[in-house]
Amino acid sequence: MDQRPLLFFDSGIGGLSVLAATRALLPTAPIVYAADSAGFPYGIRTEAEIAARVPALLGRLAERYHPRLIVIACNTASTIALAAVRSALDLPIVGTVPAIKPAALISATRTIGVLGTDATVRQPYVDDLAARFAADCTVIRHGSADLVEAAEARLRGEAVDPARFAAALDGLFAQPGGAAIDTIVLACTHFPLVADDLAAAAGRPISFVDGSAGIARRVAYLTQGQDWPAKARTGTAVFSLLDDRARALAPALMAHGLDELAAL
Ligand code: DGL
Repeated sequence: MDQRPLLFFDSGIGGLSVLAATRALLPTAPIVYAADSAGFPYGIRTEAEIAARVPALLGRLAERYHPRLIVIACNTASTIALAAVRSALDLPIVGTVPAIKPAALISATRTIGVLGTDATVRQPYVDDLAARFAADCTVIRHGSADLVEAAEARLRGEAVDPARFAAALDGLFAQPGGAAIDTIVLACTHFPLVADDLAAAAGRPISFVDGSAGIARRVAYLTQGQDWPAKARTGTAVFSLLDDRARALAPALMAHGLDELAAL
């Protein structure tokens, strides 16, 4: 039986949104979830820092866990380092890109918000997606580092002031043309974890779109025909810095089928 895991990688717990969607399709897949907590948050780092960090860490993780496939469950890392990781490692690498294409398919007002990290929303890759898939839409972007922190706090079980969700959305709504936004791309994997809070804070109906279901389908496609264990086992969460903040995430990790904590 092929026991090699799927390895999910993010700066923090955002990749759990992608893991959950993948588990729904591949319920018995062995899982290693890796968080670069020592490098968190990625969204306020430079391109050079992320480009140096991510391939090196994934190289170490691949050596240690021998995954059958890696999911870079982080928009920031994917938009900056995906090509470098693919050329460094000889195994399938699935990246996460802002779900601008599906958002453009459903927006009635043809005005789309892209909510990500600062590092993601300034990437030329996002210009390219907007030009290719949403050429007839106004695409308004905002980067929020605070929303990433709010999602981490929520998963540590802390109370989070609803004003923080409203402020993140205001970064889109307050821009010229922002009042017409009817669809928001959650272009950071942390944000689907707080989608209910965002919906409550929006004050009007908004469709929130993210890429997790598409990534899960891609993983299932790339691994079709492979052996999977007959029964699901709990997985491992590995942190580059296993401190009290990481340990406080244990219940949320457990809820995602990860019951073992390890340090990288
Ligand atoms: N979850 C990450 C993303 O999808 C980044 C969060 C961060 O570290 O800033 O972009």
